Amino acid sequence: MTSTRTAVLTGAAAERGIGQATARAYAKAGWAVAILDLDGELAARVAADIASEHGVPVYGGAVDVANEASVSAAQQEISARVADGTLPPVGALANIAGITSPVPFLETTLDLWNKVLAVNATGTYLVTKAFLPDMIERGFGRIINMSSVSAQRGGGVFGKVPYSAAKAAILGFTKALARELGSSGVTVNAVTPGAVDTNIRVGSTPEQEAAIVRDIPLGRQATPDDVAAVFVFLSSDEAGYLQGTTIDINGGSHLH
Ligand SMILES: NC(=O)c1ccc[n+]([C@@H]2O[C@H](COP(=O)([O-])OP(=O)(O)OC[C@H]3O[C@@H](n4cnc5c(N)ncnc54)[C@H](O)[C@@H]3O)[C@@H](O)[C@H]2O)c1
Repeated sequence: MTSTRTAVLTGAAAERGIGQATARAYAKAGWAVAILDLDGELAARVAADIASEHGVPVYGGAVDVANEASVSAAQQEISARVADGTLPPVGALANIAGITSPVPFLETTLDLWNKVLAVNATGTYLVTKAFLPDMIERGFGRIINMSSVSAQRGGGVFGKVPYSAAKAAILGFTKALARELGSSGVTVNAVTPGAVDTNIRVGSTPEQEAAIVRDIPLGRQATPDDVAAVFVFLSSDEAGYLQGTTIDINGGSHLH
């Protein structure tokens, strides 16, 4: 199968992470993938592994989504590869990079607050702003932003106040940008997973993990693949009428 579109994913290098599973799911569906992560070496290794498994064009490199110059450099790397035909045009952007803040509010320093907002919310803004112009010019694009059930229910899974605030900012960002994009051919939607079994939660105690599962009607946490499937669907031609929406992926643990 020849790949006709590239999916750009941030935060897609970590082993057992949602991002890496999502990159693999895009490749399985025939997309070329460009993996951007703070850990550029791991991103390049994961990209090479995906290329050998699925035979799709890949790129893997470093980015700090919270740093405008770094985002711009990463976008230019990918753009150069699109220009020389190494990668097909960018059709989807999955803003997945994120960090959490497992600290009670009164122990939250301004540095921690700024960092959590910078990676989750400002990162989504910077990366979207970098890749959106080419999507608008080609009249097609799918932007999917990683929020969390923590935005909707006020934490409770593992993120506390800064994390919930940052993930809620992503929902407002998604809705407002969706309105502004109108009929440009570019859609922007968000996903709100509940508990997903990844390394981001290594600090949780077995008791906390058990309590989380007790609260999930489906009786288990999500796997990264459960979340990946929704990214790939939201990137499809068939999802073209979904604009500014939020898709819950929480096993029924938060219904509204
Ligand atoms: N695991 C869960 O229960 C859960 C639930 C809801 C939402 N989420 C969100 O899903 C996303 C992925 O989480 P995960 O559980 O796979 O975590 P993870 O820690 O396994 O992966 C996060 C990835 O983001 C990268 N990253 C961190 N800071 C970055 C930066 N400044 N620039 C670029 N990349 C950076 C990390 O290197 C890592 O590869 C996050 O946004 C997280 O908030 C996770």
